[in-house]
Amino acid sequence: MAILPIITFPDKVLRRKARKIKTIDRSIKRLSYDMVDTMNDAGGIGLAANQVGVLKRLIVVQLPEEEPRIYINPEILYREGSRMVEEGCLSVPGFVGNVERSIWVKFRALNLESKTIRIKADSLLAQVLEHEVDHLNGILYMDHLAEHEKLRPISPEEYSSAIRPGQEPDQRDDLTTFHTHSESEIHSS
Ligand code: NI
Repeated sequence: MAILPIITFPDKVLRRKARKIKTIDRSIKRLSYDMVDTMNDAGGIGLAANQVGVLKRLIVVQLPEEEPRIYINPEILYREGSRMVEEGCLSVPGFVGNVERSIWVKFRALNLESKTIRIKADSLLAQVLEHEVDHLNGILYMDHLAEHEKLRPISPEEYSSAIRPGQEPDQRDDLTTFHTHSESEIHSS
């Protein structure tokens, strides 16, 4: 297990398309576990392999109070509806922006045992899955900003509470900030 360095914008690897994984071997398993450690260490809820400099179609996701999920060759098969959410990314530290995401998605991937996983996801999970699959296609959330929207800089304190929605509300010193973020589902992935 290892914490990998997270590549930040504007590094070009974030703009490249990741390649499909043909064999789920030991190196893929090790990379998956390292990515889970890296995501947890950074306090994010999702991470794509591009973000650690590996152009392979692999993402990890961990929602608050859940076990980590590891998805190989993930695909969004169908999306429906649209909603605005405030979003951040571990590769774009210190900023958030309002982007349009789907109400729900149909998602398919392989797990580490090469079993096909199918999910119908909404809310935060749908948002993270769309965000991470975008990464594998070289797309960053800023690409989805509405024309009149701008990235908003946030303080390190605000950022660390924003990337852990719904956790430890009593330890936040600014309750107003907490409620605002909880409703708008700021996250970082
Ligand atoms: Ni991201």
